[in-house]
Amino acid sequence: MEVSLHNISKSFKQKDNSTLNVFSEINLTVNNGQLISLIGPSGCGKSTLLNIIAGIEVQDKGDIYIDKSLEANRLGVCGYLQQKDLLLPWRNILDNVILGSELKGEKKKESLYKAKKYLDRFGLKGFEYEYPHNLSGGMRQRASFLRTLLADQKLFLLDEPFSALDSLNRSKMQDWLLNIKKELDKTIILVTHDIDEAILLSDKIYVMSNIPAQIILTENINYPRVNTTTMLSDNNYFKTKKNIMDALSSLEN
Ligand SMILES: Nc1ncnc2c1ncn2[C@@H]1O[C@H](COP(=O)(O)OP(=O)(O)OP(=O)(O)O)[C@@H](O)[C@H]1O
Ligand SMILES: [Mg+2]
Repeated sequence: MEVSLHNISKSFKQKDNSTLNVFSEINLTVNNGQLISLIGPSGCGKSTLLNIIAGIEVQDKGDIYIDKSLEANRLGVCGYLQQKDLLLPWRNILDNVILGSELKGEKKKESLYKAKKYLDRFGLKGFEYEYPHNLSGGMRQRASFLRTLLADQKLFLLDEPFSALDSLNRSKMQDWLLNIKKELDKTIILVTHDIDEAILLSDKIYVMSNIPAQIILTENINYPRVNTTTMLSDNNYFKTKKNIMDALSSLEN
């Protein structure tokens, strides 16, 4: 699935009736099967942009094309892992992770079978019958990730999916995502504050400025990446990282 944003603008009315211009004229494209990342300062509108792509927020101006056709109604097109995990407190972990497939009308037995295959890999084995409040932040985040994965949409929106994990588990999950990316055959838009994560996983990185946000840098990444550790001895990696850090540090606070 190819997704392309043309001149997307968004502002919010604030409590004091003033207008917060979050971004205007954002243009970006993710090709079928690619993963792109959005990096930018806190509050620059990354989650808002994902909400707009998902169709749960409406842009003021601009168009979104999916596979080159104008797509006004995008609700249900994407699997969306939101920044806050939205696990249902009254469902145990197993029943939470199959929610997406259940909503799509898949047979429960089949959903459970698929989910159980992944529990170990997601470090959730043994916790499948626990309720969300008994799990750590990282576990809840992994459960939400698994739920998004199992919902099996062609477009995946991931808003800081690994931010609640400690660094060891984070690199494990990043390596895992890199490895299964091909097999998943999904188009992915990832929001992250972690530059290394973006470089490891992305085909293209967009760096955003403070509000009113613009795209201040687009980095295409064409060199192979094997995992988090080997990347650290690759000169290409340092060049990309420097470009991104320069772009971010050029921003006024
Ligand atoms: N529904 C809303 N109503 C009013 N203002 C909003 C709304 N949603 C977001 N905002 C404001 O829009 C701006 C962008 O918010 P957003 O959550 O998209 O930022 P972000 O880039 O995802 O930040 P972070 O990196 O901290 O997650 C913020 O100033 C936020 O307060
Ligand atoms: Mg956000």
